[in-house]
Amino acid sequence: MQKVRYDRITVIFHWLTAAIFLFMFTSPYIWRLFERRTPPRLELQFLHFSFGLLLVVILAARILWRLKHGRKLPAPNESRLYVLAKFAHYLLYAGLVVQLVLGIWLRLAQNNPLVFFGFFEIPTPFDSQQEHRKILAVAHDVVAWTIFTLATAHALAALFHQFVLKDQLLERVGFELRGE
Ligand code: HEM
Ligand code: HEM
Repeated sequence: MQKVRYDRITVIFHWLTAAIFLFMFTSPYIWRLFERRTPPRLELQFLHFSFGLLLVVILAARILWRLKHGRKLPAPNESRLYVLAKFAHYLLYAGLVVQLVLGIWLRLAQNNPLVFFGFFEIPTPFDSQQEHRKILAVAHDVVAWTIFTLATAHALAALFHQFVLKDQLLERVGFELRGE
């Protein structure tokens, strides 16, 4: 197979997004193991909100990079299924954008400020808890599970390419795995 890979910056953005997403998805289930208002729970929540804002910056930079400079790659094979894979990639981008907006809105609707690793705080424009926060919380949860399901299918598809179709697809995102 022709040796094709994304440029280094695209690869770094891909893995940064994946790692932060994994933390964002798992952290609420870990903080629930601790009592309300205890330090580990508050600390994990603080990190959830801070990494969430960091992901806003990373995702915006990633999308701009992709539109302007990022390397575009051809389909790895002739299969029409690639249309499905491309569609899944766009859904992942869209899902992340929607999820970040929902998270920020939910935090503000709970009448709490946005925090960023102790560097700064953005106060909420609301002066009391908003009724619609319950709908936002459900939507934030549903979108989290939707992205998680899609990202798992996406990762399994990549592994299927690598180890069953043996087309070295993982080289595109930085792996040097040479199997016969
Ligand atoms: C172990 C986990 C993962 C593996 C092995 C993996 C693998 C890959 C591979 C091989 C590609 C290139 C596909 C191609 O060029 O056709 C890709 C692209 C992509 N991945 Fe992942 N990925 C993983 C996790 C994630 C996660 C968690 C997300 C987001 C939540 C994600 C979002 C994307 C997106 C949006 C693209 C499209 C890149 C573009 O064309 O702009 N990936 N991934
Ligand atoms: C990819 C990004 C994100 C993912 C995957 C994610 C995921 C989650 C999940 C799974 C929950 C638990 C939902 C439940 O079962 O009730 C949650 C709760 C929450 N998230 Fe996020 N989130 C993300 C981004 C953000 C951002 C950017 C913010 C705000 C800055 C945020 C604020 C919140 C808040 C306020 C809660 C509810 C906390 C509580 O009162 O229990 N999230 N998030």
